[in-house]
Amino acid sequence: MTNKSTPHHVAIVMDGNGRWASRRFLPRIAGHKQGVDALKRCARACDARGIKVLTVFAFSSENWQRPQEEVSGLMDLFALALGREVPQLKADGVQLRFIGERQGLSSRVLKGIELAESATAANQQLVLNVCFNYGGRWDIVQAAARVAAQGLAMTEQSLSQMMALAHVPDPDLVIRTGGEQRISNFLLWQSAYSEFFFSDKLWPDFDEAELDLAIQTYGQRDRRFGKVSGQRDAVSLPTGSN
Ligand code: IPE
Ligand code: IPE
Ligand code: MG
Repeated sequence: MTNKSTPHHVAIVMDGNGRWASRRFLPRIAGHKQGVDALKRCARACDARGIKVLTVFAFSSENWQRPQEEVSGLMDLFALALGREVPQLKADGVQLRFIGERQGLSSRVLKGIELAESATAANQQLVLNVCFNYGGRWDIVQAAARVAAQGLAMTEQSLSQMMALAHVPDPDLVIRTGGEQRISNFLLWQSAYSEFFFSDKLWPDFDEAELDLAIQTYGQRDRRFGKVSGQRDAVSLPTGSN
């Protein structure tokens, strides 16, 4: 089911796992485990709604500063979830891509990433970009370094082509769960003209009804891209020419 107000690319800051667990007097990692299930449900729901690209923020470059126990728990969970979920994702036509700095990740995690990407590379149904050890500033810097290393002119286009999400169009809709209204170093470059939807639901509680509310809200927005409402491309002649 697709209609014209369905976003092509949805990006999500999956926030609130720790609070979900704390409210139940559980260790934070229990919330992260629930978060994996929420992501599986969300990917299926996005696919069912005709969304073609889903990008999720799973671990930021700043999340290393959490207590060592949580960081190692997250790394274990990530490696485990990869091993467990890839066959089903492959069967569902999901193309998995991992976005972020790979240096500093353990060989176990790296191996999981490489296997998951190669096993699903030919899939076309839904592209699932998992931002892991990712930061928007890191992305801009690595892209600029690659532009410079290749001796290219520094332009918006050359930089865009070197960004970690160059294989997909910019996100139409960015959702953040967990109640905070900030970007926390997520897609700084790519979200220039995205619509934002902030949900008070904690990520493990994010469900189809909330996804539908986000999509419905998105459908009511007037995306102007700097133009005026209802303006057609043919009208945008250079100043002074009409
Ligand atoms: C988001 O949930 C997942 C990661 C950052 C890895 P949090 O762990 O940030 O949950 P809260 O914000 O503390 O509730
Ligand atoms: C953003 O959440 C990162 C992820 C969801 C992976 P954080 O919980 O790290 O963000 P802050 O610290 O509240 O800004
Ligand atoms: Mg958080």
